[in-house]
Amino acid sequence: MKKKWWHEKTAYQIYPKSFLDTNHDGIGDLRGIISKLDYLKELGIGIVWLSPVYCSPLADQGYDISDYYNVDPRFGTMEDLEELLAEAKKRDIHVVMDLVVNHCSDEHEWFKKACEDPDGKYGRYFFIEDIKDGKYPCNWRSYFGGGVWEPLPGHPDKCYLHLFHKKQPDLNWENPEVREDIYKMICWWLEKGLAGFRIDAIINIKKVLPWRDYPSDRADGLCSIQNMLEDAVGIDDFLGEMRDRCFRVYDAFTVGEVFNEKEEDFPNFISDDGYFSTMFDFRAACLGASEKGWYDLKPVTPDLYRDACFFSQRRAKDIGFYSNIIENHDEPRGVSRYIPEKDLNDTSKKMLATLQFMFKGLPFLYQGQEIGMENTVFETPDQIDDINTLDEYKTALEAGLSAEEALKAVARMSRDNARTPFQWSAAEHAGFTDGTPWLRVNPNYRRINLESQISDPNSVFQYYRKLTALRTDPLYRDCIVYGDFLPLWEDQHNLVAFLRKSEHQTLMVIANFQSEAREISLDQPYKKLVLTNLLDAADTPASEDERKDLTLQGYQAVILEL
Ligand code: GLC
Ligand code: CA
Repeated sequence: MKKKWWHEKTAYQIYPKSFLDTNHDGIGDLRGIISKLDYLKELGIGIVWLSPVYCSPLADQGYDISDYYNVDPRFGTMEDLEELLAEAKKRDIHVVMDLVVNHCSDEHEWFKKACEDPDGKYGRYFFIEDIKDGKYPCNWRSYFGGGVWEPLPGHPDKCYLHLFHKKQPDLNWENPEVREDIYKMICWWLEKGLAGFRIDAIINIKKVLPWRDYPSDRADGLCSIQNMLEDAVGIDDFLGEMRDRCFRVYDAFTVGEVFNEKEEDFPNFISDDGYFSTMFDFRAACLGASEKGWYDLKPVTPDLYRDACFFSQRRAKDIGFYSNIIENHDEPRGVSRYIPEKDLNDTSKKMLATLQFMFKGLPFLYQGQEIGMENTVFETPDQIDDINTLDEYKTALEAGLSAEEALKAVARMSRDNARTPFQWSAAEHAGFTDGTPWLRVNPNYRRINLESQISDPNSVFQYYRKLTALRTDPLYRDCIVYGDFLPLWEDQHNLVAFLRKSEHQTLMVIANFQSEAREISLDQPYKKLVLTNLLDAADTPASEDERKDLTLQGYQAVILEL
C-alpha cells in the first residue's frame, strides 16, 4: 500500500443544516462553519466533509440537487464557500464535498426539460419508460418506500425511475452525455480547490437492464433493490472512467459510500489503483438489519460489534484503508446504538472512541460525536422530519404495530437522531440558533454540550482531543496509522482486544465491553500505559505485577505499549 498524505489525518463530517446558524433563520450555514474552523483545528481535524450545500428543494435534505454549480441561498453564497475553502486551507484542513450523482432533483433543469420532451436529449438523461397496460417496467421497492416508478409529470402514459425518493430521479449513466456532464462538473469543483469528494450512494448507478421483476418479499408485492444490485454487472467501467477522467487528474481524495459491493470487487474500490481513496466501513452499522424494516431490527451485542469490526479489519488488510465511523447523518448516534442504555456514560462513550481510533483506517467523526451526543426522543410522529423514518413508521404500522410501538421502534434507527442541532452550549436552542431551529434540539442539551466540556479535562471532548493528538504523536504515529492489526481473544465474551504492530512497536488495545470488571493476565508486563478512559488510572504502575495482571473496570479501555 502506497503511503498517502491523508492516512495520518482525522476526518470530520459536517451536516451543515444542523451545525451552526448565524443569520437567525434556524438553518445552519456556511458562515457558521467558517466561524468554527478554529474549533475543528483544536479538535485535531485535517479533513472536513460537507454534506450537500448545493441548490436543492431539500426533500432529502440536500441529497436532491437542483443545481450542481451553485450554493443554496439557505446555506450561503458561492463567496462564502470560497472563503471557507481559503480559510480551511490556511489551517491545513482539506475540504471535501458530497458528490450526489446517482440522481438529481426533479427540480433540476435536466429533469424539467425531460418532462417537456421525453424523447429529446434530456429524456435520455433519465430512465423514462412507457406504462404498459397500467403496469410499470419492474417491481423494485424504492429505498424510501413505494415502487421505484412514478408517472412522468405531464405524461400519464410514461414513468421515470427513482431508487430513492420520487423527487430524486435517477440519472442514466448508460448515456455517455450524462457521464460527460458529470465529469465536467466534478473537474469544475476540483479546479476550485476542493480536495475531493464523498461519493454518495454510488453502487446504484449500474442498473440491471432490461428491467426485470424479482420475487416480492413483502405484502406490497414489491422486492428489495438488493436483488438487482446482486445481478448488476459493469459498474467498474463507470467508476474506472470517473477515476481516470476526474479524480486522478487532480489527485483528489475520495471516500465512497459503498454498500453491497461484490466480494471479489472489493480490492477494485480501495486498493492503490482503486476507484476511490477509501470507503466507509458500514459493517457494524448494518448489524441487526431486517428485510422487513427497521421495526424488526435485531439487537446488537458487543460480540457482534467486535466480529463486524474485525471482519473489516481483516478484509482491508494489505488492500487499502477503510474509513472508520461510529455514526453519520444516516444513522442513529453510535453511542445509543452500540451501548446498552443503562450503561451509556462518558466512560463507555470513550471506550467506543478508543476502538474507532485504534482500528486501522481513517477515523471519521460525525459532528457532535466528539461531545458524546446521544439519540433524541420522539414524543409524537409529527416530530419526525426524515422521509426515510416516516416511511419506516408507515411500514411498522402496516406490519401491525400500534402507533406507540411503531414510533418507539423507528426512533431507535431514525436518521433524525444524528440530525438534531449541534449542542454548543446550555443556552437556549443549545446555542445553535437564536431563531427557531429547523429540527428540535435534543432535550438533553443542558447536560451534554460543548461549552461545559471544553473546560473539563475529563470530558468526552477532551478525550477525543487526546485521541487525535495520539494519532499524530511521533512516538506512536507510525504504529497507529500503518501497524498491522492482529486480533486477540476472540472467543472471549464482551471483550474487544487486538494488537497494532509495526516494525519497531507493538500496541495492545483492550476494551472491556460490559459493566462488570474483568481480570486479564498478560504473558509479559507491558511497558507503558499510553491511554485509558478511566480518570483515576492514567499512570503506568511501577510494579511489574500490576503491569501483567490487569483489572479492567466496566467499559474501561486501555492502550498499552508492550
Ligand atoms: C446516501 C445519503 C443519504 C441520502 C441517500 C440518497 O445514502 O447519505 O442521506 O438519503 O444517499 O441520496
Ligand atoms: Ca442560517
